[in-house]
Amino acid sequence: MTGRILPPADKSITHRALILSGLAQGRSRVRNPLDTGDCISTRRCLEALGVAITETRSPEGKPVLEIEGRGLRGFQEAENVLEAGNSGTTARLLSGLLAGQRFLTVLNGDESLRSRPMLRVVEPLRRMGAEIHGRNQGRNLPLVFAPSAGELRSIDYRLEVSSAQVKSALMIAALRAQGELRLRGAIDSRDHSERMFEYLGLPLRRDGSGLTVQPVDSLPCFELTVPGDISSAAFFIAGALIGGTELLVEGCGLNPSRLGFLDVLKRMGASLEVEEQGRSGGEPVGSVRVRPGSLHGAEVGSESIPSCIDEVPLLALLGAFAQGATRIRGAGELRHKESDRLAAVGRLLSGLGGRIELSEDGFTVEGPQSLKSGRIDPHGDHRMAMAAACASPGIRGGVTVHGFEAAQVSFPDFVGAFRRLGGEVS
Ligand code: S3P
Repeated sequence: MTGRILPPADKSITHRALILSGLAQGRSRVRNPLDTGDCISTRRCLEALGVAITETRSPEGKPVLEIEGRGLRGFQEAENVLEAGNSGTTARLLSGLLAGQRFLTVLNGDESLRSRPMLRVVEPLRRMGAEIHGRNQGRNLPLVFAPSAGELRSIDYRLEVSSAQVKSALMIAALRAQGELRLRGAIDSRDHSERMFEYLGLPLRRDGSGLTVQPVDSLPCFELTVPGDISSAAFFIAGALIGGTELLVEGCGLNPSRLGFLDVLKRMGASLEVEEQGRSGGEPVGSVRVRPGSLHGAEVGSESIPSCIDEVPLLALLGAFAQGATRIRGAGELRHKESDRLAAVGRLLSGLGGRIELSEDGFTVEGPQSLKSGRIDPHGDHRMAMAAACASPGIRGGVTVHGFEAAQVSFPDFVGAFRRLGGEVS
């Protein structure tokens, strides 16, 4: 696992760039979007609502999407059910766009997504005046957004769960609602939507206690280049630390609300050099250099979880290679991801002959442990498939991952990139 890696484009930023350009007036250009799994779901849903999207290539061979925005109120009724596939971000962010439209929409997803909680977004959107029906009283997909005769009305709302998806859905709905949206409480999740709103000059204000969004008559079209995804780079960073090799990650988004993993690694004694080299669409972009060195355990509490939510499974794995105890608390949200990721890290470590003590909202791993070659079934969860692969540089005989295709959801050529850096997955 030695070398350089340019991680694939940021999934969260791509979803937002697609949705906001669909809502804009005129033609937007999004360079280097993530063109795989989850983001294709968002793209297909927007196309079904009447957004014309054409794909070209940059001189360097990177995808470029040209999106003809429909304006805030120009979407049309889809002929069929909208399919969000495996993507929670698609389902939740689009709920903010579909609420209170003049037409009917049915939104569905795959088996994993149909089991994930939707009430967190349905309930505040109902309070804004949207009529939304769904399985289990709106707790699960499929959801039905009924045609509305009136306008949405913004609310003053306290977020109980730290979720960028819920926050963003309400911000998107507020753009065409009456009055001012005020969000308080758990708003410390990733702030890509806030940054993109600011980049587009939309009326967003934020301070220590919350944020507000005012409605607009229209959104300007825009150009944006999507940086690399730190959450995808994280697998390689973990692989390099486990294998004891040097790695340079380039062209990577360095939004502080996504850097919790690097902060915990530094606390575990990792030698990391993070360098901001520029900005793109209001997001800092740069490099991360990883140098070999030994790790020790760390305590990670609930205040650190939002900024490393997708990387927590990697912390379990790294904990097994570190000296002492790694303790994670306040990570109960992991039970509501593409799979129950706390149960999944339990299966991952025990499948490799390791030990982990799970609790309702976290785990404790005592290290160092000598993990053994094993066969892991990630149950279709992309991040668990890639996390399993990352253990292989530290295990004689490597790791066999059953159903590796799951990685496609966020990382189109994970296996290729992993092998080019010397990783072993059989
Ligand atoms: C995402 C937010 C996070 C994260 C997911 C992407 C986003 O989910 O786990 O991979 O793009 O907004 P929550 O906001 O539900 O925590």
